[in-house]
Amino acid sequence: MRLDNAVMAAGLVSRNQLKKLIKSKQVTVDGHLIDKAGLIVDCHLQDIRLAGQKVETEQEVYYILNKPAGIVSACSDIKHRTVLEMLSPEDRKGGIYPIGRLDRDTEGLILLSNNGPLGYRMLHLKHHVEKTYYVEVNDSLTSDAPDFFKKGVVFLDGTRCKPAKLDILSSHAGYSSARITISEGKFHQIKKMFLAYGVKVTYLKRLSFGGFDLEDSLPPGAYRTLTQAETEHLKTYFD
Ligand code: URA
Repeated sequence: MRLDNAVMAAGLVSRNQLKKLIKSKQVTVDGHLIDKAGLIVDCHLQDIRLAGQKVETEQEVYYILNKPAGIVSACSDIKHRTVLEMLSPEDRKGGIYPIGRLDRDTEGLILLSNNGPLGYRMLHLKHHVEKTYYVEVNDSLTSDAPDFFKKGVVFLDGTRCKPAKLDILSSHAGYSSARITISEGKFHQIKKMFLAYGVKVTYLKRLSFGGFDLEDSLPPGAYRTLTQAETEHLKTYFD
């Protein structure tokens, strides 16, 4: 959308007022001064400001959702239900996407928002977003396991993971459970880390993400809007 149309849609200033603001060097996109009203912009992906005030065509929304198994963490899918379809039609605003991914068979906490730049920053490697998972595996986790994960697991292809914190909850031949915290997000990371240890993940649930915890009051499939304080916390945490 053109910048002038985006500004009009947001109902902030008139086309002429925008031109004046551009002339007086008060219009920025992602921190860069703009000199053309016809510049093509996207309010969901870019931070557009008029004299410091953010341009938003649609209200920013933030949800915390307990993803059930069988649901994909994508915006659309031809075969499976998506996390967006868990939202009621009135909550499904344009531009909403899941912040990060969980495998289809993984349950648990996922954040959703239509704030594009925020999601990008959260997932960018320099922001160490801690994630804790509850894991069940098909064999025992012996007392050497926490050290194995702490040293940084290396996959068969040579990929090295950052140190992870493992707390064993129970261990038996044929079934064990644990809590594990990582601070990166490689594809199928948890499952591959446990495979590298020599066991197979049989159940996986994300318990926390970036300081947000999955509450008992959110059963699988349920979600709620983040409070104003939580939203502010989220934004400052990842600035
Ligand atoms: N690691 C995995 O293997 N799967 C997930 O869904 C999340 C982390």
